[in-house]
Amino acid sequence: PPLHSLINAQDFEDVAERTITKKTWAFYSSASTDCITRDKNREYFSKLWFRPRLLRSVGKVSTKTTMLGHDIGVPFFVSPAAMAKMIHPEGEKDIARGCVDVRVPQCVSNNASFPIHEIVPAVPKEKQHPFFFQLYVNREREKSEALLRHVAAQDVDTIFVTVDGPVQGKREEDERVKVEDGLTTPMSGQSTKNDRRGGGIGRIMGNYIDPNFTWDDFAWARKHWRGKIVVKGIQCWQDAKKCADLGMEGVLLSNHGGRNLDTSPPAIIILLECQRNCPEIFSKLEIFVDGGIRRGGDILKCLCLGATAVGMGRPFLYAVNYGEEGVQHFIDIVKQELEIAMALVGITDLSQCDAKYVNTAELDPI
Ligand code: FNR
Repeated sequence: PPLHSLINAQDFEDVAERTITKKTWAFYSSASTDCITRDKNREYFSKLWFRPRLLRSVGKVSTKTTMLGHDIGVPFFVSPAAMAKMIHPEGEKDIARGCVDVRVPQCVSNNASFPIHEIVPAVPKEKQHPFFFQLYVNREREKSEALLRHVAAQDVDTIFVTVDGPVQGKREEDERVKVEDGLTTPMSGQSTKNDRRGGGIGRIMGNYIDPNFTWDDFAWARKHWRGKIVVKGIQCWQDAKKCADLGMEGVLLSNHGGRNLDTSPPAIIILLECQRNCPEIFSKLEIFVDGGIRRGGDILKCLCLGATAVGMGRPFLYAVNYGEEGVQHFIDIVKQELEIAMALVGITDLSQCDAKYVNTAELDPI
């Protein structure tokens, strides 16, 4: 269908399901075991109700904000997702091109299908587009060290260290559908292939990740990375607090789109836990969330509950099915949904986001 007939994130997902290869759909859409977390990620947003305040002047609304020191056009970013080339030959490069006008930050996966030095130059340097890099710590530490040096040389100032997958979740659809044309991930040197257990791209690609990385190893990360560090995949308030105590610049509350531990909680529950148990950390580091965000209203709820910005993974993959224009169109849709939700709730600037605009009764007590 023509791009402009698509009017929401679900439309992009539906088109992807019908048009991409079975293997690509299996890899992108799958999640671990019974996919409960993947599905509840979306469902839980409907357990939060807005408390709109009316009769305010809301004719002009701004979605601009800042994230990790960068001015951004909307409070959402591209969560790192592997292998965008499976859906479009320009993959992560077209995601970058589609993000530049609105200033949507892109966090490039360690398992991206292009190396970072090909993705960053896809947009003009003078735009100073915010790129972040997501690191999986390699069992062979020197490989990660070399990669971090290479990333720093691309003018990337922040890494997201993903910690929710010391081992990979059991993603059954991904295992069932066999790999036909193997691809490699240039920054981790893994190639996708079938083995005795099946075609699980996530599992096979994740072989290099060090399952013995612990809190103490952040000293190693600091030694080899001078920029900011965001810890991705935090799933309870105690660990979020630990990140703040360790002086991290951010945490991304995330269950990896339900792809690792099934029945781990939707990010909105983790966010509420933090608000109730360690409210002081919100002024110490930036808190991000991802998983199941598909609507402008979902984003607004997260911001009202204290998030600085939110990430989306699958939606950007499904948008780049239509290349750069698909990504642009998708961003326009979500931005517009957010503007409408803000005006209807009664705010005109994201600095006015406040917990009083969300009724959390269905989720209490956390
Ligand atoms: C991911 N995700 C992910 N995370 C990460 O830290 N490194 C990675 O390489 C990947 N790869 C990846 C591939 C695919 C196909 C998906 C769907 C996801 C997780 C991602 O960053 C994010 O946490 C989730 O995608 C968020 O959930 P939604 O937005 O997809 O519902």
